[in-house]
Amino acid sequence: MSSIAIKGVRKAYAKNAVVHGVDLDIASGEFIVILGPSGCGKSTLLRMIAGLEEITGGEIWIDGKLVNKMEPRERGCAMVFQNYALYPHMTVAENIGYALKVAGVPKAERAARVAATAKVVGLEAFLDRRPAALSGGQRQRVAMGRAIVREPKVFLFDEPLSNLDAKLRVAMRAEIRRLHRRLGATSVFVTHDQTEAMTLGDRLIVMNGGRIEQVGTPAEVYNRPATRFVANFVGSPAMNLMEGEIDRHGIFTLDAARRIAIPNAIESRLVGHKVTLGVRAEAARLVAPEAPGALPATVDFVEELGAGRVVHTDLGGVSFAVAISDPVAPGTGEPVGILIDPADVHLFAQDDGRRIDLAAPQAALDPAA
Ligand SMILES: Nc1ncnc2c1ncn2[C@@H]1O[C@H](COP(=O)(O)OP(=O)(O)O)[C@@H](O)[C@H]1O
Ligand SMILES: [Mg+2]
Repeated sequence: MSSIAIKGVRKAYAKNAVVHGVDLDIASGEFIVILGPSGCGKSTLLRMIAGLEEITGGEIWIDGKLVNKMEPRERGCAMVFQNYALYPHMTVAENIGYALKVAGVPKAERAARVAATAKVVGLEAFLDRRPAALSGGQRQRVAMGRAIVREPKVFLFDEPLSNLDAKLRVAMRAEIRRLHRRLGATSVFVTHDQTEAMTLGDRLIVMNGGRIEQVGTPAEVYNRPATRFVANFVGSPAMNLMEGEIDRHGIFTLDAARRIAIPNAIESRLVGHKVTLGVRAEAARLVAPEAPGALPATVDFVEELGAGRVVHTDLGGVSFAVAISDPVAPGTGEPVGILIDPADVHLFAQDDGRRIDLAAPQAALDPAA
């Protein structure tokens, strides 16, 4: 097991900077997930840890050793990719044992390690098959076996499940977690899929445009997104976001008919400023259009999810989703009311998109004042 410390790591291809100073500490034995949209620099970061890509600036430490100048094979990392490229003419056993053969490990030891690995990934019955005679999930397990057999200190997973169908993906996620519990090796798992990230990670690193936006448990990231980007990227449906102004009464105003009183806003620096207001679909409630305090909206369409449904509405020109559990949903074009509890509201600065937490005004905190 190994800890990883990433300090101010940057990467530029020619003059094009793609990773802009990433700082991250990964504890020994931890399973972390790096989540971000395609092109945000996830693979580049992973490849820099593995030593497959030179770093432009900063430091990478593995197990207390500076590895900037170390060859990939000296770093003790094993990578599992989306395109696992097994050798088609080799059996499962030969595929798993290939790296050991290349490293000159004696035949008997090789066979023992391949057998032990096959057991870990559940491929004992398939050791003599060739990749063409395996399912997608079995091939992915061979790829994982190839990584495990080398007994790496660190596992680096680069979207290894993206090519699998939805059901298999869920099963493989569970397998990867089980594997981690069993082997305890430090693992970094990269994905663009927020559901995968939420279900896999002890800790989530959300990246965007070559920078870390937030580090936290899945619950922290979901419940207290640090930026507008995270709010929008994590969660399905995405958090509802609307741009408006906080007026001098501390009321968020989308338009004349759609206003939400924000607790503590009146004392804050936000008065008179534009902000982005966010509300999760499950935090909002669908009510009759004439209900007191309801914001008027019109139903666009209803998304059936089996266990519940999401009503997509037009809220004064902004699309706004409400999750409901009622068996009956309103129809397209119907007027509805949306009720938002101010306690469920998230605020983000208009300029840099950072989360704004309003402190209670001093007077309320200090009864003597
Ligand atoms: N070898 C390369 N040469 C030039 N640009 C690259 C190279 N590899 C990646 N990039 C660029 O770096 C950025 C980050 O890429 P990547 O790390 O692969 O993103 P992700 O894995 O998050 O999808 C992208 O804009 C990509 O085009
Ligand atoms: Mg990638």
